Amino acid sequence: MCGITGYIGYRDAYPIVVKGLQRLEYRGYDSAGIMMFDGETICVSKTKGKVSELEKITDLNEQAKKGNIGIGHTRWATHGVPNDVNSHPHNSMSGDLVIVHNGIIENYATLKKELISRGYSFKSDTDTEVLINLIEEVKKQEGCKLGKAVQLALTQVVGAYAIAVFDKSKPNEIIVAKLGSPIAIGIGKDNAEFFVASDASPFIEYTKDAIYLEDEEMAIIKLNKGIKVRKIHDDSLVDTKIQELQLSLEQIEKGGYDHFMLKEIHEQPKAIIDTYRGRMIPNEGIIRMAGVDDNIEKFLNADRIIIVACGTSWHAGLVAEYLFEDLARIPVEVEYASEFRYRNPIITEKDIVIAISQSGETADTLAAVKLAKSKGAFVFGICNVVGSSIARETHAGAYTHAGPEIGVASTKAFTTQITLLSLIALKLGKEKGTISKSAFHSYLQTLQLIPNKVEELLKIDEQIKYIASVYKDATNCLYLGRGFNFPVALEGALKLKEISYIHAEGYPAAEMKHGPIALIDENMPIFVIATNKGHYDKVVSNIQEIKSRSGKIIAVVTEGDVIVKEIADHVIEIPETEEAFTPLLTTVPFQLLSYHIAVMLDKNVDQPRNLAKSVTVE
Ligand code: M6R
Repeated sequence: MCGITGYIGYRDAYPIVVKGLQRLEYRGYDSAGIMMFDGETICVSKTKGKVSELEKITDLNEQAKKGNIGIGHTRWATHGVPNDVNSHPHNSMSGDLVIVHNGIIENYATLKKELISRGYSFKSDTDTEVLINLIEEVKKQEGCKLGKAVQLALTQVVGAYAIAVFDKSKPNEIIVAKLGSPIAIGIGKDNAEFFVASDASPFIEYTKDAIYLEDEEMAIIKLNKGIKVRKIHDDSLVDTKIQELQLSLEQIEKGGYDHFMLKEIHEQPKAIIDTYRGRMIPNEGIIRMAGVDDNIEKFLNADRIIIVACGTSWHAGLVAEYLFEDLARIPVEVEYASEFRYRNPIITEKDIVIAISQSGETADTLAAVKLAKSKGAFVFGICNVVGSSIARETHAGAYTHAGPEIGVASTKAFTTQITLLSLIALKLGKEKGTISKSAFHSYLQTLQLIPNKVEELLKIDEQIKYIASVYKDATNCLYLGRGFNFPVALEGALKLKEISYIHAEGYPAAEMKHGPIALIDENMPIFVIATNKGHYDKVVSNIQEIKSRSGKIIAVVTEGDVIVKEIADHVIEIPETEEAFTPLLTTVPFQLLSYHIAVMLDKNVDQPRNLAKSVTVE
């Protein structure tokens, strides 16, 4: 996920674009760059690091700030490590076309090969430089204008994009297009100026009139003339509605949500799709993942898998234990990274160590990776942040592609880690023959439906808010689950603790009778996951045990449940799915519940006390 912004009009473009980039830094800050055009000269400045680093460079170069046209980019690296060369904007080989891009061109390698055979050379490792050269090549071959060339080039592209393109020979135009990544266009008075951005925050103080492009649409923005929006594939003109922006600047920076955490909870359907996009092809019965494919023999011959992680990522690791053992019949141990490294663990060359980390920077996990490597294990990293230390330190790995997670309480990191781990477990299960071909197909079809089910689940927000209002003053809470949902109980308790400061514990439901049951009285809320698969009857018995001791029961059940409904004080229904995938759904109500309780208690949701997003100390 990256941020793009642009300006064309009568004002100095530089301050508008740079301020816009600062507002979009939540979308990534691996590198920043800007192209300015003063009527004669294209000037591109770019650097690794934040927008503040970019400003240090442009302060030294008068030309870098000159002109009424500019496009800028703040990068969250996907293809190519974050360095100066891979930073955007990217020029075409002639230097006359310039692009900024948010997204991933999945077939860039094939397109690049073709362009190289036609004489193109590349400075960066990015998919974006491939796209701008493809546009240049199409423009040359077809003898067409920029707009048509962008359109034709995009029909050859597989992947996701929001782009802004400038052509020196068309200095009154900016072309934008969208598929999968957002783009907004701000419209100035009398078409005398236009703004382009990943969200409306960069231009909110200049205009309230905006157009949001839909997927597969492109816009040709012509100074003093107006905007034409077309469908990329069939060339039809789109009758686009101008929207009046209602939101305050601060809200827009959070995409209209009050907090980043809430935004990230709501981003989960898309984040899950982004995790499996290009990797899972249900109709063809394929899961492909370079990091696993390239090392498949190691995975298939492994004596065991050791998972190392901290916090929420450790909980995802616990879910993976159930997934790998159930689907691929590989023994798994899940370790707190901080404990693993301090107890002289027995690791052999036949072990695979999987390190899970959203940030890729957690010091304990990084140290565990180094220890495992030193003992000869093959180490596989699952990270969200591209180019992070753990991603670099591991032998191979896969990114979750969840987009930046800013709220300290992990939400979409958890569900995307589980999605990725499910793909690996399913792939290994298929390769080892521990799941049948038909079961494999059916799992894929079911996993594909999860994002829609999460979307459905997010609609019960008002009900969760009500439950939050009932239990917000509790001082202690218990979270119970069994099987695949035991880790979800732990995660639910962690979410409540870290942002509302209410003491909460997660337990395997059956363990309750070995101690925690002593805590239960009429003041104790107990959140129980009682979905219809797995150990439903046993969990119902556990719920009865709570009821007999007057505990308050809030149960997460499968749609249509009748038994638990009779006993529980509140039920939260989740859509039906495979047992293995229930954690992707059962965790969502707990995220919302913690969020609402923290808001009601007036806590700092996104930056809870004593915590940091990435824990780089041991
Ligand atoms: O970046 P990581 O996934 O390695 O972070 C691990 C933990 O610090 C993190 O999950 C932490 O527990 C979160 N605040 C939980 O919401």
